[in-house]
Amino acid sequence: MAIEVYLSEEKIQSRIKELANEINEQYKGKELTVIGVLNGAFMFTADLIRHLNIPVTLEFMSASSYGDGTTSSGKLEINLDIKKDIKDKHVLITEDIVDTGLTLSVLRKDLEARGPASLKLASFLFKPARLEHKVDIDFLGFEIEDKFVIGYGLDFAGRYRELPYVGIYNEGK
Ligand code: IMP
Repeated sequence: MAIEVYLSEEKIQSRIKELANEINEQYKGKELTVIGVLNGAFMFTADLIRHLNIPVTLEFMSASSYGDGTTSSGKLEINLDIKKDIKDKHVLITEDIVDTGLTLSVLRKDLEARGPASLKLASFLFKPARLEHKVDIDFLGFEIEDKFVIGYGLDFAGRYRELPYVGIYNEGK
């Protein structure tokens, strides 16, 4: 098995600083509730909020989505919910990757129903080739090709989340 480096640690860190600057600018004078989607977004969330200079509270959530075959919305199973009431709060979801878009489209609807003052999404990666459910990404790290990637929070069978870079997983090589 060989891992080919796709996004280097340097490239990731410099892009994250740029994203944090955009977020600081957009939320100037406001307080922000960041909701990291576990497990994949833990590293992106940690690195991103280190560069924020606005007041931040941090929550984590874990959810699985299932397409039910008959509607395009899918079902959401929340494995771990946030503790805080987000009504009238400015909320930023942080996610590792938007692939088919199913998870984020249903998670976004669920959080929207809780009445936040605003709800935006920061996704580290976006794979446009696989998108089936439209998701608006307000802050995007990188658009990537249709490859299975690992590292920087993303896993293959639970492994490789700890890598500081994003690699392409080539099974059998
Ligand atoms: P969705 O298809 O947009 O709902 O993505 C669901 C989840 O699949 C993401 O949050 C990731 O955890 C996982 N995923 C999608 N593409 C990849 C990949 O290339 N590598 C690792 N995990 C992925």
